Amino acid sequence: MATPSTTIVDPAFRADVLAGLASPTRAIPARWLYDRRGSELFEAITTLPEYYLTRADTALLERHSGEVAQIVGTGGAVVEFGSGSSAKTPILLRAVKPTAYVPIDISGDFLRDSAAALHDEFPSLALYPVEADFMGPMELPAEIARLDKLGFFPGSTIGNMIAQTAVDLLRGMKSALGVGANLLIGIDRVKDEGVLLSAYDDAQGITAEFNLNLLHRINAELGGTIPVDAFRHKAVWNAPMSRIEMHLEAVRDVTFTVSGHSFSIPAGETIHTENSHKYGPRDARLLLRAAGWTIVGEWTGEDDRFALLLAEAEAPRFAP
Ligand code: AVJ
Repeated sequence: MATPSTTIVDPAFRADVLAGLASPTRAIPARWLYDRRGSELFEAITTLPEYYLTRADTALLERHSGEVAQIVGTGGAVVEFGSGSSAKTPILLRAVKPTAYVPIDISGDFLRDSAAALHDEFPSLALYPVEADFMGPMELPAEIARLDKLGFFPGSTIGNMIAQTAVDLLRGMKSALGVGANLLIGIDRVKDEGVLLSAYDDAQGITAEFNLNLLHRINAELGGTIPVDAFRHKAVWNAPMSRIEMHLEAVRDVTFTVSGHSFSIPAGETIHTENSHKYGPRDARLLLRAAGWTIVGEWTGEDDRFALLLAEAEAPRFAP
């Protein structure tokens, strides 16, 4: 017999969806794409032939983690922002040989699973998982206070944010980690539009499923009546903003309710669900400098598809 499902309504999800659908420029923050199903679909995206980002990022880490260790030293603390499944973490940990590892993630499930897996490979590493939203104020565990800190933010997650928010986040990381700390960050590059578009609109339709899953989630968790087949996945390159945008486009006029609120979307109009900003070499460096980070290392593949940057948190100083 089917057990009735208990849906716990996340008030922040509800508020974001209702406000986002009511806004004249319909948009729902990308973080809500990552429920259990969404996270599984994202994992599937990372192995798609068109989605070069994860392979490029992983290859750079494999190739250059040794140089990172030479610059930052061993025996410190690695602090990972939005650790998720921590798939790339072992590559860095093997090279940097830290004393402590602090994964920060909003999903407690992910944190516990990945901490258990890491413990098997690194039995003497001290693990201090922090269940928190890295977009908010962060407090690091007191146990790592006296260790040298290396922040880790791979995968071009920074690309999800508009520049202003990205700078706020990078400043927040600096104040959490402290002056003298380092940050290792992966940032995707501007490149051929066709390459970018197919990375976000793959032949197998996995990215489409990932995007459309948001509507299933709204129906399941917020008592929505959205006919999901009235929407299609759309990826567009916004050149002036230097970003790929994901939208859900209504293929016909559609009316539905969410938590008792009614919405109508005319055919051809969209709900904006994600931004992935792309940075040229100078853009990427300026973004870090704008937040008080000095670049001390930069690695890209021969094809310059993706960049791994190492930066040091600058001391505040007087300057003309
Ligand atoms: C996890 C934010 C890096 O923007 O490339 C992948 C998410 N969206 N395909 C990205 C994503 C569609 C991804 N990030």
